[in-house]
Amino acid sequence: MARRSSPTPARLTNPFRYRGPLQTPADIIDRSREREEMLDLVQGGHALRMIGPRRYGKTTLLTQLLRDAEKAGMATALVDLEDVLSIGELVVRIERAYANSLKGGIRSHVEALFRIWNVGLSLTAGGFTARITANPRTDSEAVLQRLLDLPRELHQRTGKQTLVVFDEVQDILAVPGADGKIRSVIQHHENIASYAFAGSAPGLMDQLFSNPKRPLLEQAVGLELSPLPLDLTADYIDRRFRRSKRKTGAALQALIEFTRGHPQRTMLLAHFLWKHTPEGSQADEQTFLQAQSAALAEARAHLRATFKAFKPNEKRVMIAMANLSGSPREATNAAAVGIRLGSVSGTTEGLKESADLIEPTEDAGPVITDPLLALWLNRRGLAGLPPENDD
Ligand SMILES: Nc1ncnc2c1ncn2[C@@H]1O[C@H](COP(=O)(O)OP(=O)(O)OP(=O)(O)O)[C@@H](O)[C@H]1O
Ligand SMILES: [Mg+2]
Repeated sequence: MARRSSPTPARLTNPFRYRGPLQTPADIIDRSREREEMLDLVQGGHALRMIGPRRYGKTTLLTQLLRDAEKAGMATALVDLEDVLSIGELVVRIERAYANSLKGGIRSHVEALFRIWNVGLSLTAGGFTARITANPRTDSEAVLQRLLDLPRELHQRTGKQTLVVFDEVQDILAVPGADGKIRSVIQHHENIASYAFAGSAPGLMDQLFSNPKRPLLEQAVGLELSPLPLDLTADYIDRRFRRSKRKTGAALQALIEFTRGHPQRTMLLAHFLWKHTPEGSQADEQTFLQAQSAALAEARAHLRATFKAFKPNEKRVMIAMANLSGSPREATNAAAVGIRLGSVSGTTEGLKESADLIEPTEDAGPVITDPLLALWLNRRGLAGLPPENDD
């Protein structure tokens, strides 16, 4: 007689995702106020610009916004401009954005239009990439112009409005004249399309939006992404531990104090805390320290590259912030890291413009945005450790 095998208990998977934009609404902590506000604005035809430091959940929120807009009947496109280098690449990014999001009847309309235009655009594989590869002398500017005006055609044919989101929009500054080209088309899209621009460097965003020489859209409504609310974040982590037969114990408070609502760092630490907490047990301060070391190991290569990319005075201010109590503006602190007192203010402002420093409350002064970078700099110390001790 065949023996009935006992069912193997389902292995519980780690409930904390720390890479890439989150897609599942249940995974997302809060941001409902921002989501509603943004949807109201785009439905009202306003342009908006959202600023949030790296890994603060911009794309997660934009993805949700697009989903909301689609439900409300809009055509949508999420254009990722990270590291875009040429007009040809820009065309491909926009084409791929429509290819990823358009569905049903609108998709068929756009496919038909692309065929009529006969400029190499397509919603299926290949598309404009194939065209410029085959003929590098293709007039990408003319195609860009046409593609940017797609919302007008869609509106004429279907009556639908389009929401176009440009993510990491500050990178457009690397393509000479591209911001002007975008502006010259979209400024005529009132009642046809809404635009949202997201970026991670406030200084560059200001260049795009406030510099009169580069007015992308002066009237775009600004929105700043704050850290996650600490109470909701703590509840979320606690609930996910309990649901997977674990308890957060004393580690929870330590984690929340360490990550200060930084979305990706919170999830990264929660991920490793969960991993170091066996099923049926409770985490404690020791488990938190293990999780912290594991998170540091995971992020080390990136942290090192981030630090290397700073200018010398920026390195000095960051080291002072991570290692000394009081402000780098104090003479002894400035001297300890080798920066001239007169250079501290300008350097600090520059670090705020790149969102490496943030001011969580108005008068508390700036802090290092990434708590893991602060820890890494603290381990490095004032004088810098030899690389073999770099952990
Ligand atoms: N509202 C949120 N709730 C929970 N986790 C979040 C939230 N927002 C972001 N995260 C965490 O941060 C990670 C990165 O999110 P996302 O890619 O949306 O950020 P981003 O600001 O677009 O990052 P990048 O600067 O790399 O483009 C997610 O994988 C998730 O772990
Ligand atoms: Mg992003």
